Amino acid sequence: MLVGKRALVTGASRGIGAAIARRLSAEGAEVIVNYTSSAAAASTLVKEIGQQGGVATSIQADVSVPADITRLFDEVSARFGHLDILVNNAGIAQPALLDQVTPESIDQQFALNVKGLLLATQAAVRLFPESGGVVVNLSSGGAKSPIPYMPVYSATKGAVDVLTRALAVELGPRNIRVVGISPGLTITDGTSEVTSNQAMHDYYISRSPLGRLGLPDDIARVVAFAVSDQSAWITGETIQVSGGLVG
Ligand SMILES: NC(=O)c1ccc[n+]([C@@H]2O[C@H](COP(=O)([O-])OP(=O)(O)OC[C@H]3O[C@@H](n4cnc5c(N)ncnc54)[C@H](OP(=O)(O)O)[C@@H]3O)[C@@H](O)[C@H]2O)c1
Repeated sequence: MLVGKRALVTGASRGIGAAIARRLSAEGAEVIVNYTSSAAAASTLVKEIGQQGGVATSIQADVSVPADITRLFDEVSARFGHLDILVNNAGIAQPALLDQVTPESIDQQFALNVKGLLLATQAAVRLFPESGGVVVNLSSGGAKSPIPYMPVYSATKGAVDVLTRALAVELGPRNIRVVGISPGLTITDGTSEVTSNQAMHDYYISRSPLGRLGLPDDIARVVAFAVSDQSAWITGETIQVSGGLVG
């Protein structure tokens, strides 16, 4: 149970992030829902959590912009004082073969998936209590088995896995655990082009021993485990949550 804990989930207005916010709230945490543009979706989620008896609030910030990260955590500090859990969920994928990759697309993906994650973690751990806390980083199967058409995205998630290990070493003495969660193909707005394409859908099903794609709550349940005391001896590891997806 996460009663008495306060969690911030980046990119929580939709998809996996929204499912994580719902799940952490169901386990008793107070939740801060970060979003960048979907104010209505974030507000609906906050209301829904409230109707279920939970406590949530939303804060707009573009996590690819350092000044926004500073504003986000200044607001968390001023309104709430401290944080116990950070879930670095916000991430973007821009499919492109090498020949189509542009400097802008490299910068945009690294700015959110790597730089934003690192700066959000830096700001969050300053607000963690002396007793410690947990950081969860959303990785991707692409980090270990690069996804066709997504070399840059796969590289950002490889960097995320390295940061999970490196920050776990640095923050362990402060009793801060850092855990990676690596989803397999999960049905969200971010994957709609793939999941709505019958040939791609069938290909992924054929590679999936459990015969289905992931749902956001499949991932959220493991995040809830990762931030709980049930996983007190796990840090620096990235857990695959993919239904056994092969390659
Ligand atoms: N879905 C999958 O199959 C899959 C597989 C492996 C890994 N992942 C990883 O899991 C995470 C979530 O994926 P998803 O599929 O749920 O994504 P999604 O459906 O595309 O949702 C993205 C969420 O991130 C927010 N966001 C986007 N850019 C942001 C920014 N600059 N600052 C703050 N928030 C931002 C969006 O907010 P707005 O609504 O305001 O735009 C939205 O809430 C990502 O890190 C992704 O790489 C997903």
